[in-house]
Amino acid sequence: MQNFALGTPRHLAFALLAGSLALSGYALAADEKAPAKELTGKELAFDASKGNCLACHMIVGGDQPGTMGPPLIAMKARYPDRQALFEVVWDPRHKFPNTAMPPIGAYGILSKDEVNKVVDFIYGL
Ligand code: HEC
Repeated sequence: MQNFALGTPRHLAFALLAGSLALSGYALAADEKAPAKELTGKELAFDASKGNCLACHMIVGGDQPGTMGPPLIAMKARYPDRQALFEVVWDPRHKFPNTAMPPIGAYGILSKDEVNKVVDFIYGL
């Protein structure tokens, strides 16, 4: 019992050291693979950690959509001017003051390049 009590701090120190080494190794591995995959417009729209559009919009091909926003269908018919659609996704507050939709581009949730990809994707719906 006494041996165990004496041994504990050393074991603990070793465990902490091993743990932090493992963590820094993991962080390095995560950094290395970060820029590897470029997401498509569809992935950017569906991914909860990216555009998260599905949380509020029905989008063809997406599971369990939210209903807070209007379904994103027939976008080309509703927005003949693609730039007008881009503006709504970039910062919906101009067209819909007090909207619950986050300013996807203006708040940096997605980059300009990413917003363009999402707009290309929904423009085809
Ligand atoms: C938190 C909910 C929410 C999220 C997330 C969200 N939206 Fe919206 N969106 C709305 C609401 C609500 C509206 C309706 C505008 C209003 O009246 O407030 C809207 C409107 C729109 C419109 C205009 C539709 C029309 O009929 O004119 C487009 C386009 C749109 N959203 C695209 C997107 C895209 C693309 C994403 C993801 C990058 C997204 N939204 C994420 C809630 C959301």
